Amino acid sequence: MTLNNFPLIRMRRTRSKKFIRNIVKENLLTVNDLIYPIFVTDGINKKEPINEMPGIFRYSLDLLKKEIKNILNLNIPAVAIFPKINDKLKNSSGTEALNKNNIVCNAIKLIKDTSNELGVLCDVALDPYTNHGHDGIIINEYIDNDETIKILCEQALIQTEAGCDIIAPSDMMDGRVKKIRETLEKNNFKNTLIMSYTAKYASSFYGPFRHAVGSSINFGKKDKSSYQMDFSNSKEAIREAELDISEGADMIIVKPGMPYLDIINKLNSRFNIPIFAYQVSGEYTMLMSAIEKGFLDKSVILETLTCFKRAGCTGVLTYFAPLVSKILNEE
Ligand code: PBG
Repeated sequence: MTLNNFPLIRMRRTRSKKFIRNIVKENLLTVNDLIYPIFVTDGINKKEPINEMPGIFRYSLDLLKKEIKNILNLNIPAVAIFPKINDKLKNSSGTEALNKNNIVCNAIKLIKDTSNELGVLCDVALDPYTNHGHDGIIINEYIDNDETIKILCEQALIQTEAGCDIIAPSDMMDGRVKKIRETLEKNNFKNTLIMSYTAKYASSFYGPFRHAVGSSINFGKKDKSSYQMDFSNSKEAIREAELDISEGADMIIVKPGMPYLDIINKLNSRFNIPIFAYQVSGEYTMLMSAIEKGFLDKSVILETLTCFKRAGCTGVLTYFAPLVSKILNEE
């Protein structure tokens, strides 16, 4: 093909009017692509602002009910629940994660009592419940893989019994998807979905989230690089995906989102499974604080989320879900 074929080819023709731009559009974000992560806490009548995440709150369960109605009105298909529990309930093995009456289980029940329609996703990991902030239990100064999995299976089971639709292991232990799947099957939860955090990188973009759930690490090297992935790598992401899919994951997550679009793209070209991005707390905070200051226009929200679709995502977990739903519903 010769390159100097102007004016036979004018790329701007298909950009010249709105109707033709709409016709040639390849990717479109809809409200159905969104999962909204929501923070819950104990007490009553609490809607606590999260300092590091402008516009995001922790809800006590009585106020969560109102927020759920709001989410239903916006037609957002699913929420992900994240708890901030009282420090007094935390210990080194995160036993509160296995309390059938913990705040996550109660939040699931409340949401299911409010609506049958809204999908509920729950993280499987111990970090909101441990006093050291790690996702698993520590044996000989190491996050022990196999002992942690035993607890995670139980955590997944009690969340499922409470009514959770999608179990999302975010702990990055090896082999956990298989063990959780076997646990669910054994207990006759045949249609419980597993959305595995498959390529979860050790990232500083999780900082604001850790403030939100009170899980900042206070043990050892203060990072999660002995189980979460190294941001220098991509081949590992492919192996992680192969494993999680073979172990029975129904959907997989890449996390963080924006700086990892290449990983999404690679996985999408290799695997026939729905892929989700988690646009994490640090990404939200970067954008939202710039929007609030007037440094960026709020149209960046739709832009970033549509770019996830272009990279190959089926959907996105994003704190912008309500805001972007309003924008999409107005269009
Ligand atoms: C817990 C978990 C984390 C996030 C989701 N689940 C933090 C972490 O791994 O330290 C981060 C989400 C966000 O930053 O929005 N395992």
